[in-house]
Amino acid sequence: MVVSGSFNPNCDEPNELSASISDEYLTRLIDAASIAVGIDVSIYRTDHLLRRFEKAKKRLKSKTWSELIDAIKNDESGRKLITDMLPVGTGGFFRDLKQYEIFESLLTALPCRKESQEGIRILSAGCGTGEEAYSIAMLADRLFTPLRLNWEVIGIDINEDRISQADDGCYKADAIKEIPGEFQNGIIVSTARSNIAIRDDIRANCTFIKGNIFLDDMVDNYNGALDVITLRYISVYLKAKVARKIFCGLAKLLKPGGIIWLGEGEYIENCTQIGLRMIEPAFYERDANAGDSIIFLQK
Ligand SMILES: C[S@@+](CC[C@H](N)C(=O)[O-])C[C@H]1O[C@@H](n2cnc3c(N)ncnc32)[C@H](O)[C@@H]1O
Repeated sequence: MVVSGSFNPNCDEPNELSASISDEYLTRLIDAASIAVGIDVSIYRTDHLLRRFEKAKKRLKSKTWSELIDAIKNDESGRKLITDMLPVGTGGFFRDLKQYEIFESLLTALPCRKESQEGIRILSAGCGTGEEAYSIAMLADRLFTPLRLNWEVIGIDINEDRISQADDGCYKADAIKEIPGEFQNGIIVSTARSNIAIRDDIRANCTFIKGNIFLDDMVDNYNGALDVITLRYISVYLKAKVARKIFCGLAKLLKPGGIIWLGEGEYIENCTQIGLRMIEPAFYERDANAGDSIIFLQK
């Protein structure tokens, strides 16, 4: 079978793929991978899954799909590889620096949080190893701490190892190159361990949780309570219908006037139907007048 390939979260158009695999093996691989990863991986685009399965097959030196299924089910190395590979994990500090400039202006203009003393709550959904969450934290620290405004960043990721690294807040010394000079006071350079560490007071405002951003308990925990949600470089890997459902769900978590920030090139089709307004490419605001009724319509 040959299935979707273009990285557009709103469309599942077919594209050419090098992999050829029968429906039966694809289903068996998806079942084995779902057990290994701990979520239903059929939410991901089939072309993404196939590319990853092909790569895993090469890396594990499996001669057949059947051997790969066996490795995912029965070998710790197979299970670990697929857990690391499927929910793609690349990130970095201040990734897409230009977007951070837009984000800074939006954060500064967040409606009336200062007066209400509510403080600012930011969710980094699919936070990976924490670089994105800490970049936002350094920005929040610069903007809000001098105003004595409370702020917190919550990072959620499905991958336990990534959450543990994020929690640790230590990175290779090389990562300093990604951090603009004006933010480098947010880190401590430790020559002894040839690494950098996030400043303790910044880390203290950041919480990292292992969890699935697609589950309903997100609504129980954060319903209408968030000022900002980042969902960067995740929706590109999702099937269009799944991405749509996630966008609807996330919109409900935002306070009116709150912001969703996507990765560069990612977008939400017909955003007004789910109570969102595009402010800039990749940035959406929850319409202050959009009640839950609009958003629930999309369920
Ligand atoms: C490409 S990384 C992006 C990391 C970060 N947002 C950034 O842009 O630097 C995607 C992250 O989303 C996580 N992820 C994928 N599906 C997830 C899910 N259902 N729930 C929570 N995290 C998920 C992956 O484990 C991975 O760390």
